[in-house]
Amino acid sequence: MSGSVLAPLSGPTTDRAAQYEATLQRIKALLDGEDDWIAAMATVVCELHHAFEHFHWTGFYRAVSEDLLVVGPYQGGHGCLRITFDRGVCGAAARTRQTQLVPDVETFPGHIACSATTRSEIVVPVVTPNDRLLAVLDVDSDDPDAFDETDQHFLEKLCQQLGAQFSMA
Ligand code: SME
Repeated sequence: MSGSVLAPLSGPTTDRAAQYEATLQRIKALLDGEDDWIAAMATVVCELHHAFEHFHWTGFYRAVSEDLLVVGPYQGGHGCLRITFDRGVCGAAARTRQTQLVPDVETFPGHIACSATTRSEIVVPVVTPNDRLLAVLDVDSDDPDAFDETDQHFLEKLCQQLGAQFSMA
């Protein structure tokens, strides 16, 4: 008798979702009881960066004033140190507080080419429950169109949890 009825759903989206479920669970366990925001950011980027092959630069930019982001913990090649809110994909995410999902960076006005190899990216804001922007999570890929709604769903869930846990940062 064929076992196909019991076979799990397959395909990239399902695999990616399962990988996110496991990764977010691991991050939650690692950050349990932690109140140091820098330690948390470093741990998150390490876990994400090593969990997904399409993540080629993974890091946080911290909101240090009303219109300036400064680089925080990251993995990958060196990133820009400072980004004002009026520049690039990170600036747009900080300004609008909305996730920016960019399938082709060349079509994004004002994209900052820290790395010439970046082809697509997703940037998710980290906002506290009392509406303070803490940082943005920036993930860049050398693959075109690397991110989809599964990435957006889970990265937004993660950033929402971080905003709540580190609201005092
Ligand atoms: N992708 C960003 C710039 C930061 S780096 O590439 C690490 C942007 O255009 O906002």
